[in-house]
Amino acid sequence: MMVFEHIARTSVVFGAGSFGRLGKVARELGFRRTLVVSDHGICQAGFTAMAEGLLATEGIDTFCFHDFGENPDSAQAEVGRLFAAPLQIDSILGLGGGSSMDCAKAINFLLTNGGSMRDYRGHADPPKPMLPMIGVPTTTGTGTEAQSYALISDAETHVKMACGASGAAFKTVLLDPELAASQPRGVLAATGYDAISHAVESFVTAKRNFMSDCYAREAWRLLSGSFERLLAKSGDLDATAAMQMGAYLAGAAIEHSMLGATHATANPLTARYGITHGRAIALMLDHVVAWNRPVAGTRYDDLAPDLETRLDEMARAAGLQRSLREAGVPEAMLTQLADDASHQWTGKFNPRPFDQAAALEIYQCAF
Ligand SMILES: [Fe+2]
Repeated sequence: MMVFEHIARTSVVFGAGSFGRLGKVARELGFRRTLVVSDHGICQAGFTAMAEGLLATEGIDTFCFHDFGENPDSAQAEVGRLFAAPLQIDSILGLGGGSSMDCAKAINFLLTNGGSMRDYRGHADPPKPMLPMIGVPTTTGTGTEAQSYALISDAETHVKMACGASGAAFKTVLLDPELAASQPRGVLAATGYDAISHAVESFVTAKRNFMSDCYAREAWRLLSGSFERLLAKSGDLDATAAMQMGAYLAGAAIEHSMLGATHATANPLTARYGITHGRAIALMLDHVVAWNRPVAGTRYDDLAPDLETRLDEMARAAGLQRSLREAGVPEAMLTQLADDASHQWTGKFNPRPFDQAAALEIYQCAF
């Protein structure tokens, strides 16, 4: 029988207009001097200024950091730590997509406990308490808003590191569909498909439990029922709300059950070729489902009668590339990529034992 512990570390404030409650939520959490971590696009969209305004009305001072990229790495987190070190901040706001929220978490580790991001791989509480954080996602994909892990690339090796601690979970997350409704279609395509993969992968892992099943099943229902609808009608508030909640629940499922071979094979595509995470996921997911079928087939049938076809349909609706060849990956590199994939931590939770030979077989199917 599975043994598990369920801890809800994060409060959720959901609904159109919930972003407007940011100041009050922050005040209730005791925020006085807040580091706002948000990427350039979010600043340009005016959301950072709105957040600063909402915090200022409650007498909270803000300091903005946005010098990081789409896949934040350990060097960028260190730049953030250097920026924040003299400011005597007592709290952090992560505002934006996965990169903003992961970067906020990473800065929190370094600022409160020193060292480098490599020191925080895995899941362990560091000696000193971390700063309280609020998360406000503006995309409907990552799920990091529901997790106590920061996904940060090693600046030297480009390997993605999952750095976890209970203090890295947001105290409160504001899920406002009005904010996410403005995400560009290309962002929805990639991040939405990533969220779908989170539901599918977390539903079958070797580490799954009753709670993750519950989250993953509902996440799949919401995401698969709204993804194409939102792609067809950009900005639709009901579909955005379903995607946003689905992405959150899929993230909560991962917190319990981790991920599998899709993320293990997708991550090297991002590290070596810069393929955006969700686009790399779309190249791999249906092939991993097919490869896992001998051990997880009945589980997949619980989600959809012909899951691979359904996943392919959704990827095509989103205009995502369907083969490694099309994505410009040279066939001669598949062996090297398989070696990279076999070292990915997430692969060890795949329901079917996953190694270099397995990765090569999957890449060949995806080519
Ligand atoms: Fe992902």
